[in-house]
Amino acid sequence: MSLVNQLPEWKALEAHWEQMASVHMRDLFARDPGRAERYSQSVAGLYVDYSKNLITDETLQLLTRLAEATQLPRWIQRMYQGEHINNTEDRAVLHIALRNRSNRPIYVDGEDVMPGINAELEKIENFVTEVRSGSWRGFTGHSIRDVVHIGIGGSNLGPLMVCEALRHYQSEDLRVHFVSNVDGTHLRETLRTLNPEQTLFVVASKTFTTQETMTNANSARAWLLAALGEEIAVRDHFVAVSTHEERVRAFGIDTKHMFRFWDWVGGRYSLWSAIGLPIALAVGMDRFRQLLEGAHAMDEHFRTADLQSNLPVRLGLLGIWYRNFAGAPTQAVLPYDQYLRYLPAYLQQADMESNGKYVSRTGERLTYDTGPVVWGAPGTDGQHAFFQLIHQGTQLIPADFIAAINSLHPLSDHQEKLLANCFAQTEALMKGRTPEEARADMENWDLSEAQRELLVAHRSFPGNRPTNTILMERLTPRTLGALLALYEHRIFVQGVIWGINSFDQWGVELGKELAGVLLEEIAQGKATEEHDASTRALLDYYLKHRT
Ligand code: F6P
Repeated sequence: MSLVNQLPEWKALEAHWEQMASVHMRDLFARDPGRAERYSQSVAGLYVDYSKNLITDETLQLLTRLAEATQLPRWIQRMYQGEHINNTEDRAVLHIALRNRSNRPIYVDGEDVMPGINAELEKIENFVTEVRSGSWRGFTGHSIRDVVHIGIGGSNLGPLMVCEALRHYQSEDLRVHFVSNVDGTHLRETLRTLNPEQTLFVVASKTFTTQETMTNANSARAWLLAALGEEIAVRDHFVAVSTHEERVRAFGIDTKHMFRFWDWVGGRYSLWSAIGLPIALAVGMDRFRQLLEGAHAMDEHFRTADLQSNLPVRLGLLGIWYRNFAGAPTQAVLPYDQYLRYLPAYLQQADMESNGKYVSRTGERLTYDTGPVVWGAPGTDGQHAFFQLIHQGTQLIPADFIAAINSLHPLSDHQEKLLANCFAQTEALMKGRTPEEARADMENWDLSEAQRELLVAHRSFPGNRPTNTILMERLTPRTLGALLALYEHRIFVQGVIWGINSFDQWGVELGKELAGVLLEEIAQGKATEEHDASTRALLDYYLKHRT
């Protein structure tokens, strides 16, 4: 297969960028009163304004042609039909089935996966009802007060982010905690104030072999047994979420208390499966289902809308525009909502583990850039930290601004200020300030001509920095579900255009293997000659100074 940058549609976009690089969005807005309306869209409870992008109708047409040339519609179909599009692991990719609230049959290798998904949801519901109602009892007969979710990567970031995003909807009677870091501090600090008799551990690992998770789970078990004495107590205080029954049993967890998911659910796409158990425990099953419904609404849009009106496709193509034609190396995610504070970290894994690839699906070395560095933090904090570089730095940084119109905590004029800042930033990034405007602004300042011109240079900035603004009426399980599905599909769109497999992650394996080797040497107290000089010296230094 030829690489995408050899296609005439790609070359046409390269030529188009040459023209667009000298165009200013200010002029595009001035020339076209219908721009904001034409370049915005409402889907599944989200209003998305993408008019503050360096694009014209022609840009969108050319990008859409590129999507057609890479057969994007066919790839979308292939995903929804359960084909093994994760070719290096020979797996289907069906997180959309987990939230298929229409219950339309979806087949993998000839078998409808929906009955299994529904049965698992029912099992989750029964368990959640038991724990939340207090009828699930610990070993000593007490109800559960604290849930500690132990997992890492995709088995942690999704539930962690959603539980924080939906904190407003959580029950006061059940607290949910997350432990991911193998640094003992994480577990110790989490358990410090908990009562073992009232604590339930959820060990979440697709493979049930991940070193960090299993280490934390073993230490959690030791903590529990130190307090409760008998091995059998594990049965009442540990449940597992995994695809691997035998390993769960070997750990000592009753497989009656194991929640399953399937190999066609990628770790970073798994919060919709039983990996989302802490979400359901925290906010209840009805709201967990609403989360699935919101995602399903976006899934249906993605499946059925044509390329021109397909929001994930549009946003994905805009990402391609900046990454490959404007050369933007990063993408910022800026939620103007405190509850969405973990969204950038979650999207970092979703996007970077999916699209951080340098070979094509068929193994050719790529000659163009793929996934950008995804980063961000909640506004307005970011404004007072790193926004300066987005405004006046030397790199182009496309940014997504995300906000809820109505606060879940109306407090005097906080929300008005929050949104005023959000909108002001996108306006400033787009408009910038011309030297003439900077000069006019300082008209009455008592300055020498030289001082004035110096300040003009510093106080004017080019603008033309692209942003998307994503608004929802209120942050609810439904709108959150739609938002997350929007990003998931955008990542998929980009992977298809780049011709890569967005659903494997071989790159993280090498580090895991080497950590195993080093751990062995640490246990032996001696570094071998196998390592490079730097790693050997670090290991020697560590061994010499550890107490
Ligand atoms: O190290 C990367 C990774 O394989 C992720 O893709 C995954 O989400 C995470 O580790 C955890 O894996 P598991 O759920 O098998 O413990």
